[in-house]
Formats: sequence, C-alpha cells, structure tokens
Amino acid sequence: MYFSRVGNTDFPQNADAVSSASLNLKDGELKGNAQLIAEWIADEAECETFEIITSDKYPVDYDATVEDAHVEQNKGERPELTDMPDDLSSYDTVWLTFPNWWGDLPMPVYSFFDRYDFSGKKIVVFVTHEGSGFSNTINKIKELEPDANIIEGLSVRGGSVNDNESEIREWVKDNK
Ligand SMILES: Cc1cc2nc3c(=O)[nH]c(=O)nc-3n(C[C@H](O)[C@H](O)[C@H](O)COP(=O)(O)O)c2cc1C
Repeated sequence: MYFSRVGNTDFPQNADAVSSASLNLKDGELKGNAQLIAEWIADEAECETFEIITSDKYPVDYDATVEDAHVEQNKGERPELTDMPDDLSSYDTVWLTFPNWWGDLPMPVYSFFDRYDFSGKKIVVFVTHEGSGFSNTINKIKELEPDANIIEGLSVRGGSVNDNESEIREWVKDNK
C-alpha cells in the first residue's frame, strides 16, 4: 500500500517535459519514490500493491503542491479517496510506504486510516523523504491505530532511492 505524488498528479504525457530531481523515469514511465519502494516490497513479500489515490489531483508544479499540502495539513483536511479496496480484512500485514510531507503523513494517508480498521493487524511503515526521515509519523500512526502492531521499516532518501534497492529488498526478506 503506498501513496506517491506521481499517481496523484496529472503530469503531461510527455514525461520528459517534467524536470524534477524527485521524479524517476523508468522505461518511459514516471514513478514516485514511494511507488518504487512499494514495488520492491511487493516483490519480496509476494503481496499485491494498492495505491492511495485522491479524487482531486495535486498541481503539476512542485512548489504549488508543497504549498497546497501545507494548507491541507494546517486545516486537517481529509482528501477524498477513489478506487480503494472495499475491505482489507483478509490481510494480516500491510506494508505502507508514503513520502514525508511537512514532517507528517500526507493528508490522504490520514484519509486511508480513517477508512479502515487495522486492529490486530501488523503495519510495516516505510517513509521516503529529503532529510526529515520518519519525523513523528510512527507515533502518529500508533495514535491512529492503537490496536495495530506498528513496525518501523526503513526511511529512504528519495533522491537516492535507486541506490537503496538492495538494502530495501534485504530488509523485507529478513522481516516478512
Ligand atoms: C508536499 C511535500 C512536502 C514535503 N515535505 C518534506 C519534509 O517535510 N521533509 C522531507 O524530508 N521531505 C519532504 N518532501 C520531500 C518528499 O518527502 C520526497 O521527495 C519523497 O521522496 C517524495 O516521494 P514520492 O515521489 O513518492 O512522492 C516533501 C515533498 C512534498 C511534495
């Protein structure tokens, strides 16, 4: 399960037109940092991937997204999600990856936690960031899901996500 900026932004078809250090172009397809991590996890843990998608997209411009996310966070908004599974009750473990946004979970990840009850389940948390690491996100998730077993996974710098692939895969193999 992951949230990434890429899947929540309508980038132009011509991905080359979008220049940003935080975006990965793989085989002509744009991939978010959290998305790449989630795909490696799914490979090693042999699980499905679901993306947390909002009904309203974020702006293509990076700084505008940073600003919008700040406003959203200050207002405590819970953006509406779309295309989510009806039910997660058949899963015992959820591997969750998201980017650190303003030292916190992106608000759509709060919407995700509002939507499901993870009591009795294990949630393994991976964060991608540009310097802040996990911030206080693990404690926030523990508050949101007091009856779940929250495991701190890895925090991975987005700008060097590809250099960390083997470390991430090893960690998942050892902890699945
Ligand atoms: C709205 C927004 C806020 C961010 N806030 C932080 C932050 O507080 N600390 C940090 O280290 N990185 C921050 N970043 C950087 C992202 O966490 C980082 O680029 C991440 O790897 C992006 O993952 P993604 O490609 O899956 O969206 C922010 C990025 C965005 C778009």
